[in-house]
Amino acid sequence: MSQLEIRSLSVAIGGNTILHDIDLRLERGTLSAIVGANGAGKTTLLRAISQLLSPSAGEIRFDGRSLAGIPPHLVARQGLVHVPQGRQIIAALSVEQNLLIGANSLPGLSDADRRARLQAEFERFPVLQQRRGLNAGSLSGGEQQMLAISRALMMKPALLMLDEPSLGLAPQVVSRILATLSDLAAGGMTVLLVEQAAFLALKHADVGHVVQNGRIVLSAPAAELLKDKALIEGYLG
Ligand SMILES: Nc1ncnc2c1ncn2[C@@H]1O[C@H](COP(=O)(O)OP(=O)(O)O)[C@@H](O)[C@H]1O
Ligand SMILES: [Mg+2]
Repeated sequence: MSQLEIRSLSVAIGGNTILHDIDLRLERGTLSAIVGANGAGKTTLLRAISQLLSPSAGEIRFDGRSLAGIPPHLVARQGLVHVPQGRQIIAALSVEQNLLIGANSLPGLSDADRRARLQAEFERFPVLQQRRGLNAGSLSGGEQQMLAISRALMMKPALLMLDEPSLGLAPQVVSRILATLSDLAAGGMTVLLVEQAAFLALKHADVGHVVQNGRIVLSAPAAELLKDKALIEGYLG
C-alpha cells in the first residue's frame, strides 16, 4: 500500500477550479518532487492533502485511510505533517519554544520523549542548539527554514510535506536542506517536496511530477526528467 494515494482530485476556490483530476501516489521512503511555475497549483495541492482545503471531487488516502472530513490538526497527529510556504515560525518565541510547539501538539508524549526529540533536532541542525534561547525572528532565512523543518520533525511524521523550502535562500543552504530531506527518505520517511527550483529539487528526488495549470502533466523517475531539461523548462514556462 502506498503511503499516500490521491485519486481524481479536483479543488475549486471561489468557483474556480484550481486543481483538475490529480492522480498521485507516494511510496514509503521515497522523496518525490512536485515542480511547476508560480501559480501552477502546488500550494493548493499540499493544502488539499493537509485538509486545509476541501476537494470538490476525488479522494486522498493516507496509510490506506481516507482523510475526508478529518481536521488538519488531527491529520498531523496521524503523521502527515506540512511545512508551509513562508515557514510560519513564531518570531517572538525562542527557537526551543518553537520546536516544543511541534511536540506539544502530540498528546501523551512524555517529557523524556520530548527532550530526546529536541536533542535529535539539535544534532540534525547544530545551529539551532547554538540559537536555542534566541527569538526565532532573529534567525537568518536558512536557519528559520531549518527550524520549520525541525519543528515538523518533532512530530516524527510518516509523511513530511514541504512547500518551497528553498525560497529566498542561498544555494549552499538549499543544498544542505535538500540533502537532509534525502537522508530522511533514506531512513524510511516519505517526503513530498514542492519547489519552483525544479532542477535542484529533482537532483535530490527519487520521483518527479510536473504541474502545469492545475494538472500533473508529467511523472517520471527524477533521473529521467533530468535528462531532458528543455522539456521541463518548457513546462515551467
Ligand atoms: N485563496 C485563493 N483565492 C483565490 N485564488 C487562489 C487562492 N489560492 C490560490 N489561488 C489561485 O490558484 C492558483 C494556484 O495557486 P497556488 O496553489 O498558490 O500555486 P503555486 O503554489 O504553484 O504557486 C493560482 O492561480 C492562484 O491565483
Ligand atoms: Mg506555492
